[in-house]
Amino acid sequence: MKVFEATTLSGLKLKNRIVMAPMTRSRAIDNIPNDLMKEYYSQRSGAGLILSEATAVSPNGTGYPRIPGAYTDEQIEGWKNVIEGVHSNDGRFFVQLFHTGRVSSSLNLPEGSETLAPSIVPLTEMEMYTDQKGMQPHDIPKEMSHDDILQVQEEYVKAAKNLIEAGADGIEIHSANGYLLDQFLDPKTNLRTDRYGGDYKGRSTFTLEITKKVVEAIGADKVGIRFSPYGVVNGMSGDFEDIVELYTHLSQELSKMNIAYIHIADQRAAMEAPEFATKIWKTIGQNFNGALLGGGDVNTAEKAEELLNDGYSLVYIGRPFIANPNLVDKLKNKEELVQLDPDKLYSPGADGYTDWE
Ligand SMILES: Cc1cc2nc3c(=O)[nH]c(=O)nc-3n(C[C@H](O)[C@H](O)[C@H](O)COP(=O)(O)O)c2cc1C
Repeated sequence: MKVFEATTLSGLKLKNRIVMAPMTRSRAIDNIPNDLMKEYYSQRSGAGLILSEATAVSPNGTGYPRIPGAYTDEQIEGWKNVIEGVHSNDGRFFVQLFHTGRVSSSLNLPEGSETLAPSIVPLTEMEMYTDQKGMQPHDIPKEMSHDDILQVQEEYVKAAKNLIEAGADGIEIHSANGYLLDQFLDPKTNLRTDRYGGDYKGRSTFTLEITKKVVEAIGADKVGIRFSPYGVVNGMSGDFEDIVELYTHLSQELSKMNIAYIHIADQRAAMEAPEFATKIWKTIGQNFNGALLGGGDVNTAEKAEELLNDGYSLVYIGRPFIANPNLVDKLKNKEELVQLDPDKLYSPGADGYTDWE
């Protein structure tokens, strides 16, 4: 089957076409990647490529408890250690870089930080978990100034450079699932009237500028990006008027930059998003010359193969990797998969994290 065959991604050799999806697991005490995380990712290096959990580019972007960052020397050292573990098992590792934007509670942010967003549109549809006080309302964000915008762009560049120096095979820019870059894309959360808002071109400016700067800093072959068209997670719109124009424009501009891949997060199965109004993944594929990464609810080799036959270059798998570190072998041998324990997804410690076998 194609899914188990070796391939390349912008020249990087992958041992198969299965990508471990980025999954926040909240084990990074004090936001620093540690030995436990090294063990967790090393155990899963049977994947052709591992995408790390979402990793904050700055203190302001650290809206959740115990997520890793990539903005201090200690954090970069921690990532270096994690990556060494994966590489020693012949795995490949991209770090997913994000900024939580309005999806944030000041209780989770390091001291002296502030909650930023394109516009003052707080996330009121849901609350967020804090270690100190349990569920809490999201902060009312500050509308980003032009300086704030430039600063976040620089934070991305700095984090990306440092991670590549620490040995990462690449960086995934997280422009999905309702976090800061997605907040710029969506007309519900971006009410700006400057060049970062307005029509689909304006709203894509922030994501495209960041990508361009990261590409200039580390090389296009080491850059991928994740989108979640029609996504509703974190209070996003799902569908909106110029959504097809938006993703057409983004794909065309990213194609010119020659980045390695576009990753399309499909929230329908895992996150209860409604049916897509158009075949947006086809639109993206037709306008982009790099690799296309897709998935969502894939738990057999046959399902993965279907996606490859449908035009995807690589298939991401998320939840099944949680309780089945050797997932690729299990899929190959058609072994029954262990079910994950939802109570241990974000709990600190090894239980439900590294101790499945
Ligand atoms: C525990 C958990 C944490 C997640 N964290 C992230 C994340 O940090 N970044 C991201 O882009 N998606 C995240 N996702 C979404 C997954 O990457 C993936 O898109 C989703 O689980 C659907 O794929 P699956 O059906 O194969 O699990 C997370 C999902 C789960 C279950």
